[in-house]
Amino acid sequence: MTRILHRRTTHSYPAAASGQGAFIRDAAGKDYIDASSGAAVSCLGHSHPDVLAAMHEQLDKLAYAHTSFFTTQVAEELADDLVAHAPKGIGRVFFVSGGSEAVEAALKLARQYFVERGELQRRHIIARRQSYHGVTLGALATGGREWQRKQFGPLLIETHHVSPAYEYRGRRVGETLQAFAARLAEELEAKIAELGGDTVMGFVAETVVGATLGAVPAVPTYFKRVRDICDRHGILLILDEVMCGMGRTGTLHAVEQEGVAPDLIAIAKGLGGGYQPIGAVLVGEKIVAALDAGSGFFQHGHTYIGHPVACAAALAVQKVIQRDDLLARVRRQGAGLRERLQRAFGSHPNVGDIRGRGLFMALELVADRESKRPFDPALKLHARIKAEAMARGLMVYPMGGTIDGRKGDHVLLAPPFIVGDADLDEIVSRLAGAVDASIAATRALDSEDLETTES
Ligand SMILES: Cc1ncc(COP(=O)(O)O)c(C=O)c1O
Repeated sequence: MTRILHRRTTHSYPAAASGQGAFIRDAAGKDYIDASSGAAVSCLGHSHPDVLAAMHEQLDKLAYAHTSFFTTQVAEELADDLVAHAPKGIGRVFFVSGGSEAVEAALKLARQYFVERGELQRRHIIARRQSYHGVTLGALATGGREWQRKQFGPLLIETHHVSPAYEYRGRRVGETLQAFAARLAEELEAKIAELGGDTVMGFVAETVVGATLGAVPAVPTYFKRVRDICDRHGILLILDEVMCGMGRTGTLHAVEQEGVAPDLIAIAKGLGGGYQPIGAVLVGEKIVAALDAGSGFFQHGHTYIGHPVACAAALAVQKVIQRDDLLARVRRQGAGLRERLQRAFGSHPNVGDIRGRGLFMALELVADRESKRPFDPALKLHARIKAEAMARGLMVYPMGGTIDGRKGDHVLLAPPFIVGDADLDEIVSRLAGAVDASIAATRALDSEDLETTES
């Protein structure tokens, strides 16, 4: 019997025993293709020798030093590297140990920025529905996944939400992409006006929405319009690239493809590629300047920030990405993945949309393609697909509640950047088997249900 309080308390999980490249082997010797890099984490795959060597080297030098006493060379080098490759205007890096911590720190930096400037009335956060920003209370309050927020509602800070840029379901028939982006921008303007422009501190968005919507990039001009609105009202633009960032979409930061510069960027997952728990906030120069000119102290911090072994792992991951030109490989293999998905699912009666960027792709499943009608949530199609995929030795990241937190199913794919062509063939073929088997099972259930209803 397990003594771990697992995510699902009554589910029994296979034990992961070893990993190599794009594969994880369980204790029974079964191999799984890691087509989701866990949760878009293992960007270099498993057991990368350069990353392991860098971690060993750092361990032999120094495992830990508290950041209220010391900085370390490895953390400084990582920060230099991140700033050197960051979007325009990013000046410093605040290290944390994961995505939720990165989002919390970004929210606090935003608030403290305005406090330093004497704009004490700025407290409102506007984010988007159907977004995920983490599980700690501030990040959870910011996220727009209703079912996840619901039971913790009494504990959450006040936040406000507008519509996501979800073209497949949000764009009206006959509406151009530009008009859709303009409508979303108007909605944001209206929300700001309702709250009072000088009371809003930040607009928070995933540049490409990950787990909740399934690899949904914004429509063209959306982020330019958002940046413009934020500038006009003195609001900080905070992008959550915990899942979509650090190369996943084919550029180091997904926002590079939007042509705007955010004020704060939360990163994690691919930063350390799963070799160590690490996240960070990339901090705009104007925020750093306000802190420097004000209290000179960011009133926040954890015991493990800037952990030397985590920084060594992340630095090694970033160096491998640069040395091996892996961003170009993400674009190339991403195009290959898209092509294969199109071939396998482009005319599948239950696949309504194939979307994403780089090696961050998703399928949205529908009961009927024409009307985009989703499957009955009670069928738990997404959970079936996960189980069928695992049975076939395939790790993918399906999720339910795509449309509104309750209805809709999608499958997210985020293979490691090192994924090969044969692996991609295998991923898509096993996924096709898993999807078809799951849908067949729901049909059987459907008719069972019908029989019961009719009798
Ligand atoms: C966009 C986004 N933000 C924040 C988080 C939270 O990160 P963590 O699970 O490392 O706390 C996640 C995790 O999936 C995420 O996808």
